[in-house]
Parts: sequence; C-alpha cells; structure tokens
Amino acid sequence: MTRKTSAPGDLLAARAGFRAALLGWYRQSRRRLPWRESPSPYATVVSEFMLQQTQVATVLPYFGRWMKALPSFSALAAAPEERVRKLWEGLGYYSRARNLHRLAKAVAGKALPRTAGAWRELPGVGPYTAAAVASIAFGEASACVDGNVVRILARLTRDATPYRDSGAASKALAPLAQELLNPASPGDHNQAMMELGATVCSRRSPTCLVCPVREYCGAGRAGDPESYPRLEAKKTERRFVVRVWCEKDKALLLHLNGAGARRLAGLHELPTAEQAGVDPAAALKGQLLARKNRGITRYRIEESIHEAKASRGELRPGLVWVPTADLSGVSMSGPHRRWVTEILAERGPRA
Ligand code: ADE
Repeated sequence: MTRKTSAPGDLLAARAGFRAALLGWYRQSRRRLPWRESPSPYATVVSEFMLQQTQVATVLPYFGRWMKALPSFSALAAAPEERVRKLWEGLGYYSRARNLHRLAKAVAGKALPRTAGAWRELPGVGPYTAAAVASIAFGEASACVDGNVVRILARLTRDATPYRDSGAASKALAPLAQELLNPASPGDHNQAMMELGATVCSRRSPTCLVCPVREYCGAGRAGDPESYPRLEAKKTERRFVVRVWCEKDKALLLHLNGAGARRLAGLHELPTAEQAGVDPAAALKGQLLARKNRGITRYRIEESIHEAKASRGELRPGLVWVPTADLSGVSMSGPHRRWVTEILAERGPRA
C-alpha cells in the first residue's frame, strides 16, 4: 500500500502511523550500543558529546574506556585535566572534552537539569545535544534536529527549498521535527530518527526498499531521495602549512598549544615553520618527510613536513623538546600522533 504523503501537512495527518512504524523498527532493529543498553544521564551526556561530528564506530572504544576510567559526573569533575585530555586523545574536536569537564564540575553533586532549556545553559551543549539529553535521559518531548534529521524530513516531504547550509535547514525544519515527535517516547523517537539517518536514509544510495517509513516518504515514492535536501555547495578554501621535523639527542621538537589556543589547547603538535622560527620558504628546502591533506571545517589543508636543523639558543614560546622514548606519554592530536609514529617508523632510531 502506498499513501500519497509528501507535503508536510499530509505527513502530519499520517503521523500516528509514521511514529508507530518508526518506533517498532527501532525497537527491533536498532544497533545495540552501550549508551542505549545501560542508559543513565551521565552515559547519555558523554555519548552525545562524543557523537558530535563523530561516527558511532569511532566513538565506541573511546566511550568504553571513558566510562571505565570516569564512571560518573563526580569522578569526571575530580579528574585532572591531563587525564581527561588523554582519554579523549584521537577523538578530535578537543573543545568537547574541555566543555564536558567543565559541565561535570558544574553539575556534580547537584540535582541534574531535566529540561532542554536548562541543559543549554551548560558548556558545550547546543540545541541538538540539549534535546537529545532531555529526551533520552529525562523523557522531555524535545525534538533533535541535525543533518540526519534534516535529510529524512526533506525527503519525506520532498522539500525543494534551497537551504544555505545544514544549519539553516535545521532551523527551518525544527517545527516539523517537533510536531512529528512521538510524545509518548521522545527519547526513542529521537534515537530512531538518528538511527534511520545513519543506517537506512543515508546521504548516498539510501536503502528505501528496507525503510520502515517508506510509505510516508514523498521522495522514496518518486524515486529521487538523493535530490533532497537541497543544500548550496560549501565554499572551501585551500590552506598550505609547512611543518618542521627537528630531532636532536633522541628528542623531537614539538609545539604545545597554550590554554588560550582556539583549537587543540593542551595538545602537542609538530611545529609549523613559523612556530619554530624558521622561514617557511627555507623550511621547504629541507628533506620532505611526509605530505598530508585533510579537511577541517571549510578548509582544505595541505601540509608538508620537512626535516630542519634545530637552531641553538632559547626556545620560542610553546616549543618543547620531548625525548622520543617519552612521546607516548604526551598528549597529541590524532593526526599528529599518526604522522609522528609513521615518520619515526620509516626513519628508524636516530642518535
Ligand atoms: N548520534 C547522536 N546521538 C546519537 C545516539 N544517541 N545514538 C546514535 N547516534 C547518535
């Protein structure tokens, strides 16, 4: 049976059936994830912080280690910053770890907030995380809207509005998400939408044939789900970064990002030529050890790492010599940890 739903009004008229189909599917077919199987407000908050901009498969081992090491808001609040940083190392977007630590200090030993509005007051909690925590841990009827939910809603309604970006689409579609939310099971409904977006209604090649809500979906019926949502192409900018590899007396020169750094505070990285006080044009003449490309937000970053001679005299601010034998003990960002490990393995031990 196919129903003729496509406009938001049609979808809302059929919402009882939509909710039941979605929830039934989720309860039967969901992935058994640790924060779902042994839920607690703390597990929900930690998992939602880790899942911001990060996939479930990446989060799983970090979540397990974290919950063992810091099993409660009070344990986290009492933990030294270095411990927190080390447990987060490799997961990226480190401001999340700092905010989570601050959040724990703010709530430990007190009655936890129960509403999305109150959670939003806490560090690192945006509208999505606030709605997720309030609905999953406290049963509040607050809809989560992120890129996954936008994709599902835009396909259900064949929404041809050209949105500037995913943020603008989230804002525009939030009222529909809220009206569609199942007030009897808001936490499971929100997680079911996340699950559908992650496993069935994917960006490319969605598997409409196995979709539990296909009979409610305009784009699924028309056979053009990949045309929605209509998001303007992101403008990207290219950046070039020259980094130096300075090794001396079995120690490697690293740059420690200060507490005031916008990104990656408290983490060590291979220094850029500028940080090391080397003219980038001169650094480029040093032996090329690695070339790396990565994307961070809207930047396409091309980095090259060149061997350089350690200059004598005082170290510039932020620079530290770390004995190569001690590298595993210092905090490094995920990519830099991989690069250093790769280069050391290729070069072999040096005097
Ligand atoms: N992404 C964000 N929150 C999530 C959750 N609770 N389960 C799975 N994926 C998610």
